[in-house]
This record gives sequence, C-alpha cells and structure tokens, in this order.
Amino acid sequence: MTLFICSNCGEGAASWMGRCPSCQQWNTFVKQREFGKDRKEKVKNFEAKSLSSIKTLDNSRLKTGIFELDRILGGGFAKGEVVLLSGEPGVGKSTLLLQSLKNLNTLYISGEEAAEQVKDRADRLGVDTARLIFSDTLQVEAIIKGLKDLHKKIDIVAIDSIQTVYSAQNASPPGSVSQLREASSQLITAAKQNKLPLVIVGHITKEGDIAGPKTLEHMVDAVLQFEGERVSTYRILRALKNRFGSTDEIGVFEMKQGGLVEVNNPMVFVEDDLADNTPGKAIAGVMEGKRPFFFEIQTLATPSILAMPRRVVKGVDYNKVLLLLAVIQKHLRLSLGSYDIYLNVIGGVDIKSTAADLGIVASIISSVKNIPLPSRAIFSGEVGLLGEIRKSYGLEKIMSEAKRLKFSKIYSSKTVTNVKEMFKTLL
Ligand SMILES: Nc1ncnc2c1ncn2[C@@H]1O[C@H](COP(=O)(O)OP(=O)(O)OP(=O)(O)O)[C@@H](O)[C@H]1O
Ligand SMILES: [Mg+2]
Repeated sequence: MTLFICSNCGEGAASWMGRCPSCQQWNTFVKQREFGKDRKEKVKNFEAKSLSSIKTLDNSRLKTGIFELDRILGGGFAKGEVVLLSGEPGVGKSTLLLQSLKNLNTLYISGEEAAEQVKDRADRLGVDTARLIFSDTLQVEAIIKGLKDLHKKIDIVAIDSIQTVYSAQNASPPGSVSQLREASSQLITAAKQNKLPLVIVGHITKEGDIAGPKTLEHMVDAVLQFEGERVSTYRILRALKNRFGSTDEIGVFEMKQGGLVEVNNPMVFVEDDLADNTPGKAIAGVMEGKRPFFFEIQTLATPSILAMPRRVVKGVDYNKVLLLLAVIQKHLRLSLGSYDIYLNVIGGVDIKSTAADLGIVASIISSVKNIPLPSRAIFSGEVGLLGEIRKSYGLEKIMSEAKRLKFSKIYSSKTVTNVKEMFKTLL
C-alpha cells in the first residue's frame, strides 16, 4: 500500500491530497515508501532473556558545572542520553547550551550561527574554546561519520538546532516533519552506539509546541524547556520529561552580560515593594519542584459593554480561571458577567501548580470589589468546585519560607476552610 504523509504536520493518508485536512497547508503531501508490497521478510526467531543477565547501566554522570542544570538532569548527562532543549526564539537556548559545555570536550554542530558568532559568544561566556570542536556540516550522514571518528576525543555532542540538519535519504526540506524524524532517529542511534550524550536544540512554535512532531519528544530521553519573556531577564528551565531523573525540578536563571547566572531566590518574580497593596494584586505561594516560590498574580476587572464579557489570561491555565470564576460567582454570589477580566502572572512565567488557585481567587475578588488585599499576605491552596480550600503540596515548606521572608499573613487550608470564609475575613 502506498502512504502519503503531510511534510508539515505528519498527517497520513491513503491517497494524495492537495490540501492537508489536519494543518490546512497546500501541497504538502509526499509519497512514502510502499509498505507490504515487496516485503518478503522471513519469520524471525523470537529472542528473549532474563533481565538479571543484563549488565547494570553505567550510572556515571557527566557534570556540566551548572548546579541547577545538573540537578534537573538528575546529576548530569548520562552516557548515551539524548536531551532535547526547547524554547522560543531568543530565549537563550544557545547561551545555556554553550555554558553547559564549559568544562567538556564537545563536538558542536551549528546550523544557526557561523563559527565566528559561536566563538564570540563562547569568549563572552568564558568558555574554553580549545575544548570545542566546531562544525557547520548539516548532513546527518556526514555528522555521524564525524562522530565516529571523533568519539574518543569528545565527551558530548551538541546540535543547534535539529530544524537545520537533514538526512540525504529524505527528499523533504530541513525542518519538515519527515526530515526531523529521519534525522533525529539516525542521530539518536549514533549517540547511543557511541555512548555519547547528545543535546539537541529545538525551536518552539508560537502555539508553544516544539516545532515538528510530538514524536521528537517520544524519541529523546529528556525534554528540557527554557521559558521566560524576552523583555525580562529571568528564565525558568523545566524538565517536561526525564528518563534519567525526576521531572519535578526547575532551575531559575538570570540573563546577564556574562551569560546565565543561577538564581536561588524564591522571590525573584515578586516586586520588591511588598507593602504596596493595590487592588487586584495577590502573592501566591507554590512549590516548583522541591522548592517554594512566590508569584505575583494581577487581575484587572473592568465593567464590560460586551454581551460576552472578555476573559484574558496569561501565566495560568485559561480553563482553570474560568472554573474559578464559576466558583466565585456561585459561592460568593458575585456577579462577574458584567466585568471584563484580565489576569496575568508577573515575569512571563507559567504556573502549573494547583496551589496557585487561592491566589487567583483572592486577586479576582480584590479587583472586582476594588479593595486591596492585606499587605504582606500570601495565598496557597487548591480551590475545589464546591468552594472548599484544599491543602497544597508542600504547604509546610511554603509556610516556613513565607515566615522567613517576613510575610505576616498566610491564607491556606490551615487558616480558612472555604472561599466564603476567606472572602469574609478579607473584605
Ligand atoms: N552581547 C550580549 N550581552 C548580553 N546579552 C546578550 C548579548 N548577546 C545576546 N544576549 C542575550 O542572549 C539572548 C539570545 O540568546 P540565544 O542566542 O542563546 O537565544 P536562542 O534561544 O539560542 O535564540 P535562537 O532561537 O535565535 O537561536 C538575547 O535575547 C540577549 O538577551
Ligand atoms: Mg540559538
């Protein structure tokens, strides 16, 4: 059977189509090799063995020297580990990559920047350029040959970015789905065979997906996402997947002239002036990985003239906010239908934890009522559909950190049981 694959999104079809029904792009279907027709493979012998006869994995790790990155990786790069480093354009992927290779003998393949540019950055970051072998060869087959020749001299291979390399066996242009799949699978196999860690940089599309197929995420051992606003200097590194360590660790960095500097302050995303208590501003206490962090949530509620009032949300899940608005409306009897509501988390970060719920609710009711929240107060807890406040993960740690940072009031499942009670004590 002949199979046609969309070179943009990976959608498959039995016949050629002018327009892809999945991604709506024109003229993207290409014929794949035929399946079944000439495949006359003999039935193979089935082979299996006891796991106890397998050699234990060499658990030695290659340390990058960046404490936060090593922690996220689970102690450093494992042998043959393939790591995908993804992030929006300009967020600092190449900078982080180069810094992490500071103490390692590296084969650095760049299709994004010329040798001079990479050298200039390496000098600025204080990287020992004598340990970096640079190549701008982008054909995968050639890269693999180079990798085999050099594998005794190098500790690690870095590719910036996977969207620029291509396999000679595939006719699609670099960056297309089938090319990404082909190139990555060849590179991953080569890295594993040579027992070398491989770091590949991948761009993220505007929608927040890693440009190219999800299959790329399945193929690699770890996916690290680098987040942050380009206008702000703070960045968060998060493990979305990790076969060699846990995924509940994050690292916070600040982008400076000399490169990325690790930040160990749970208050980096909160404005210094805690005494300022404008209506709509709430500080949420949340566990990010194994550490407590504080985030400033701001809401602006304005009278709406629209039949369908506007809801604009940045930094937390949109549907989560709709759910909490319904809880407020029902349990506090606040009519929110006449307000446009804009909600934002300061610093361009995304809060994933449900512990931010209480902070979101406090921020919304403070803005709607136009009454400031008590100054130096933090909010931490999950809010249920029945208006109840549940204990957030790591609450004890959040509370002790809040006390150390001289927050005078802590609203959580320990002090209030439901949103109605909190509403009464607050306003
Ligand atoms: N000379 C410099 N001094 C200080 N900061 C710089 C300098 N040059 C670049 N930067 C910082 O580095 C950032 C770009 O970093 P980098 O090139 O690592 O991003 P990237 O994610 O690799 O981008 P791309 O997707 O374009 O490859 C800039 O946004 C800027 O903040
Ligand atoms: Mg780059």
